[in-house]
Amino acid sequence: MKIKDIQNALNSQYSEREEVIEGLMVALIARQHALLIGPPGTGKSALVSDLTKRITGANYFQWLLTRFSTPEELFGPVSLKELEQGVYKRNTTGKLPEAHTSFLDEIFKANSAILNALLTLINERVFYNDGSPAQVPLMSLIGSSNEYPEEGEGLEALFDRFLLRYEVDYIGEDQSFVSMLKGSAPSPADMSIDELFELQFFSDTVTIPDEVFDALSKIRRELMDEGIRPSDRRFKQVLSVIRAKAVLAGRDHAELEDLMILKHSLWEKPEQRDKVAKIVRNHAQDAVKTRVEEIKTEAADILKSLEQSNNSTDVAVESTKKLKSLVIELRKLQKDNPNRTEVAQAVALVQKSLTDIASQVLGV
Ligand SMILES: Nc1ncnc2c1ncn2[C@@H]1O[C@H](COP(=O)(O)OP(=O)(O)OP(=O)(O)O)[C@@H](O)[C@H]1O
Ligand SMILES: [Mg+2]
Repeated sequence: MKIKDIQNALNSQYSEREEVIEGLMVALIARQHALLIGPPGTGKSALVSDLTKRITGANYFQWLLTRFSTPEELFGPVSLKELEQGVYKRNTTGKLPEAHTSFLDEIFKANSAILNALLTLINERVFYNDGSPAQVPLMSLIGSSNEYPEEGEGLEALFDRFLLRYEVDYIGEDQSFVSMLKGSAPSPADMSIDELFELQFFSDTVTIPDEVFDALSKIRRELMDEGIRPSDRRFKQVLSVIRAKAVLAGRDHAELEDLMILKHSLWEKPEQRDKVAKIVRNHAQDAVKTRVEEIKTEAADILKSLEQSNNSTDVAVESTKKLKSLVIELRKLQKDNPNRTEVAQAVALVQKSLTDIASQVLGV
C-alpha cells in the first residue's frame, strides 16, 4: 500500500515519531484533524510538511499564526475590483479555503478576527465568502502549538475540533538521537490525491463488529467513573479513526486493537491522558490474543526448566502433563475462535514440543 510506504519512509526519517506518524496517516484517511503539542524544535513542522508534500496533486496551505494575524493571511485578500462594486469577496487562491491539507503553526494564537471563520471552516468545511457559503475541499488540518491553550481565552472550541491530539517531545533514546543527527536520505514514497480519495472511500465501508461497539461502551462507562466525559459527538467521530486504523492495517473490518488509537482522542485535559491510555489499553487488547501469548510464555518456561534439569525423566513426565493441559486449553480456544490463525499456530507449537520431549527425552 502506498500510504504504508509513506508511513515507513517517514518513520525512517523521523526518530521516535511512530505514533504521531500513524496518527497523521489515520487523520488523512479519516478526514479528521490532528493537533501536535510540543516544545520548539521537535520536528513538528518538518514532519507535516514532509508528509503533505508526498500527496501529489493536493493543495497544501501552511501558515504561522501570530496574535496579529489577519483574515487576509488565511482566507485571502479582498478583491479591490469587486469592492468597488460593493462586493466584499476574498480571493482565496492558494489560501486555506482552497486547501486539501493544511498546517497551522501556533494555532492557539488565533485571534477573534479569524477564530469564527476558522472554526466554521474546520468543523463544517464551509467558508462564507461575501456571505455566501462555499464548501471547502479540506481533508485534514494539522495544528501545532508549543503549549495548551489557556482557559478562558475562548479557544476551547478550537481545541475540541481536533479529534486526534499528540504530545511531541524531545527524543529520548541515545540511539535515536544519533540517527536524528546523522539524518538519512529521504525515501521517494508518495501517493496521488486520487489514491488518497480511494482510501477514504474504502474506509467508509469498513465494518465494525459488535465486540468493538461493546468495548467502546465499556470505555465510556469507565471514563465516566473517572470523571472524564468526552462528548457523544467525539465518540461518534472516533468511529472514523477506528475505520481508518483498520484500513492502514490492510483490513476491511475493525478489530479491538484498532481502539488503541483512542488514547489520543478521548481526553480533554493533559492530566487525563494517562488514565485514558490505561482504560483504552485494557479494552483494546484482545482477550484471545492475550491468553495465547500467555500460554506460549508458559510453554517456553516449562521447556526451559526441563532443559535446566538436564532432561531428567521425572521433570519430562511432569512437563508433558503441563504441556498437555495447555494444548487442551488451546483446543478449546480454537473451537471458540475457528478463524484465528494465532491459536492454530500456538497449538502446533505446543504439540511439537510434546513430540520432541517424547522422542528426545522419554524415548518413545
Ligand atoms: N524526532 C526527530 N527526528 C528527525 N529530525 C528531527 C526530530 N526532531 C527534530 N528534528 C530536526 O529538527 C528540525 C527542526 O524541527 P522543526 O522546525 O520541524 O520543529 P518544530 O517542532 O516545528 O518547532 P517549533 O515548535 O519551533 O515550530 C527538523 O527539520 C529536523 O531536522
Ligand atoms: Mg515549527
